[in-house]
Amino acid sequence: MRGAQQFEVPKIIGHRGAAGHAPENTVAGFRKAAALGARWVEFDVQLSRDGHVVLFHDDTLNRTTNGRGAIGDATLSALRQLDAGAWFGPAFRDERIPTLGEAMAALGELGLGANVEIKPAVGRAAETARAVAVLLQREWPAGLPAPLISSFAVEAIAVMRDTAPEFPRALLSRELPAGWKDRLRDLGCTGVHCAHDRLGAGQAADVIKAGYALRCYTVNERRRADTLFRWGVDSVFSDYPDRLF
Ligand code: G3P
Ligand code: MG
Repeated sequence: MRGAQQFEVPKIIGHRGAAGHAPENTVAGFRKAAALGARWVEFDVQLSRDGHVVLFHDDTLNRTTNGRGAIGDATLSALRQLDAGAWFGPAFRDERIPTLGEAMAALGELGLGANVEIKPAVGRAAETARAVAVLLQREWPAGLPAPLISSFAVEAIAVMRDTAPEFPRALLSRELPAGWKDRLRDLGCTGVHCAHDRLGAGQAADVIKAGYALRCYTVNERRRADTLFRWGVDSVFSDYPDRLF
């Protein structure tokens, strides 16, 4: 069961691009991740008010842009006005919130594979997943490995399973949920992504023995990464991928 996908996903994945070095979920972050030597990045996607898929982590614009309020209340044209880089540092001024289309173009140019984390607003999981599926099917760059889809929202994964089954899926869960084997099987997932500080060696062994890929976030210290890899963890997401190579 630990199939071909295993060989394509590297051990170190840049988290939200390379969030320790560049503003998260931006094209500048992708460029930084690639320059540091990352081969894959993880990023978060959700919907604007008018149904466009954009890269964004939080529910609100407040922390990572010069805007205010819920991202799901803003149209794409309003989001395009915002600065999503200056909060991180003056060198990133004028960085924009990318659409998924822009992100895919940048990934293709940089040769970066990706884990697309669907992070829907409450009540919009199915709608978000449907929009993501359409875009990935239409525009995912030829030549890149298939994108790995993950979400904390079970409904989003189920929609991906039903509408874009060709993309591998992983369940995101802070800790291994009760009944994880049944849930992974029902969702047709090839792996599970969990918080590294909620995982023990015994649980890691159980997941691996069951034939699933195991990936952990957010690992920024090499010693911790070494311990996880010793337990059999396949990959880690890091804000500082360069620290772990
Ligand atoms: O996908 C792994 C990780 O990004 C999940 O947590 O909150 O950083 O999106 P978060
Ligand atoms: Mg994420």
